[in-house]
Amino acid sequence: MLPLMGGFCTWLLVLLLAASIQGERTGSEATGRQLMQVKVLQVAPETQAQHFLHQLRLESWDADVGDVANGTVAQSQPLEWRMVRRFPPLVSPGGRVNPKCGNVGIRFPQLISRNQSTMDAFYRYACGSAADFFITDPTLAMTGTMASLEQGCMNLQPWPDMIRASNRTHGEYLYRSCGERSGEHCSAQNFTAAKVTPITVDEDVLAVSSLRSLPQMDYQHALLDFLAPAWIASNGFRKELLNGSVKMLAVTPWQIEMLKALGMPEDAILQVDIGEYKADSPKLVLCSKRSLHLFRPGGPEGRRLPELPFRDSRSYSDFWHRFFNWQVRDEITHAITTFAGLKEPSASGDIVFLQRCTDRRPIANEQEALSLTRTALTAANRSELLTSVCGSREDFLEQIREMRTARLVIGAHGGALANLLFAPKNAGVLEFVGTAAAHAGLAGVWPPYKSYWYGGAGAAFKFYRVVLYDADAEGNWALELPDYELALQEWLATEKPLQHTV
Ligand SMILES: *[C@@H]1O[C@H](CO)[C@@H](O)[C@H](O)[C@H]1NC(C)=O
Ligand SMILES: *[C@@H]1O[C@H](CO)[C@@H](O)[C@H](O)[C@H]1NC(C)=O
Ligand SMILES: *[C@@H]1O[C@H](CO)[C@@H](O)[C@H](O)[C@H]1NC(C)=O
Ligand SMILES: *[C@@H]1O[C@H](CO)[C@@H](O)[C@H](O)[C@H]1NC(C)=O
Ligand SMILES: *[C@@H]1O[C@H](CO)[C@@H](O)[C@H](O)[C@H]1NC(C)=O
Ligand SMILES: *[C@@H]1O[C@H](CO)[C@@H](O)[C@H](O)[C@H]1NC(C)=O
Repeated sequence: MLPLMGGFCTWLLVLLLAASIQGERTGSEATGRQLMQVKVLQVAPETQAQHFLHQLRLESWDADVGDVANGTVAQSQPLEWRMVRRFPPLVSPGGRVNPKCGNVGIRFPQLISRNQSTMDAFYRYACGSAADFFITDPTLAMTGTMASLEQGCMNLQPWPDMIRASNRTHGEYLYRSCGERSGEHCSAQNFTAAKVTPITVDEDVLAVSSLRSLPQMDYQHALLDFLAPAWIASNGFRKELLNGSVKMLAVTPWQIEMLKALGMPEDAILQVDIGEYKADSPKLVLCSKRSLHLFRPGGPEGRRLPELPFRDSRSYSDFWHRFFNWQVRDEITHAITTFAGLKEPSASGDIVFLQRCTDRRPIANEQEALSLTRTALTAANRSELLTSVCGSREDFLEQIREMRTARLVIGAHGGALANLLFAPKNAGVLEFVGTAAAHAGLAGVWPPYKSYWYGGAGAAFKFYRVVLYDADAEGNWALELPDYELALQEWLATEKPLQHTV
């Protein structure tokens, strides 16, 4: 944990609208908001970055025959990865065997429905058409690995593009990859669409490979993809971050907020705003005149983890880093609550019902589900406090406060459920997930049954069930209430009432 540190010398942020960069850009909307807060910013075309881009072109499939014949095709040496931490499997292999479909309970959550044909359709999906939708596997031990690259560059672009880091001699893909390994046909265009903005800093930079963001989803993706890897990586550089000799890279406002919430001083954070994803957004290349310290998940013994092509239906193929969330969640919650001075919870045992509270993707009978919950708790003579929460992003600490005492968390798939990161290990989860019909036509990636279980990450929870909502004749979404009640009763039967009543 980064200790609470006061009295840091104020660091003068150079806030540049990068006027000289703008001239190079094509007139896209993204231009104006591409603010960069970096200590040292050199905007002149720069050889280190040029070399990086040149090498990307040579390594891509559109390197021309001339380059190859000329022997100029780059042959980067791999980086030296060292294990910084080992994690046991989230679940023991064979611990959750479902006779109908072995993937259910492992890579896919357990669905609750009274309708056998609905259940059968789910099993056909999880063990048939979607069987390798996720290649992540919670029965695998994992490692956190780090490598250093001297005088190297990396591209920064929003999810889901590849990230590569290299210097003149060494280089590797940090997140997804092009070429034989992944079967992806990449061109230099994939890294350099529109103009590339090189940023060169005279700092040691600490960067995690899952620096992702999506429009309007910065909050949940900072929680899902950034916070835990950043936490693990920063632990190895505690002193350097605190004395300012290493800076942690963050590329979205919530990533920055979360690092600060952990207690990281502002001047330990290298802030680069890469903007929201647009196919034609300018891509950035970050170069360090010193070292890039890179973090990525590794398999047992630190080996690189499997990946699959992602431009097909299996776009969730590499969520390995999400397993870290459930390994270090207690450490993260402790660090944040300690830094914020939150008191230890006096009693635990809330049932947290997360309401959507937004016009986006409303579930029409959500209130009925809430009152059904209240009735079921009363009928069972349960003393847990039922709280219904309208998660507002601004109340980050408030959401942590609510989550960390939860016995059961209930809610529709959506941003608020990303707060599960702060729920205790023994908490139960009831998630509402949609059918393919409900999701038809939605923007984004909406496979049926889309759940926070995500390739096995949810297996870390003691009790995790999903219940379906579907579209009615008018297209409104409705939760299968009797199925929901069944799931709730199953949790009530599994979890004993608390000893002390209020
Ligand atoms: C080979 O490389 C040299 C130097 O970079 C260049 O001048 C020449 O045109 C290249 N030849 C081919 C066939 O691309
Ligand atoms: C069960 O689900 C199927 C779709 O999977 C649906 O066609 C059928 O009407 C449902 N049966 C009942 C009794 O709800
Ligand atoms: C590239 O980085 C590697 C790993 O840190 C280092 O060994 C190598 O000397 C660097 N190459 C150059 C040209 O700086
Ligand atoms: C690279 O870019 C091309 C053209 O935009 C696209 O068709 C292809 O899918 C991209 N490949 C990857 C791996 O992103
Ligand atoms: C910061 O701390 C590290 C680790 O203790 C040390 O090696 C380094 O010299 C320090 N740098 C500065 C600028 O104080
Ligand atoms: C409810 O639980 C309390 C204490 O756990 C007990 O005293 C009371 O008799 C119970 N009431 C009913 C109706 O079961």
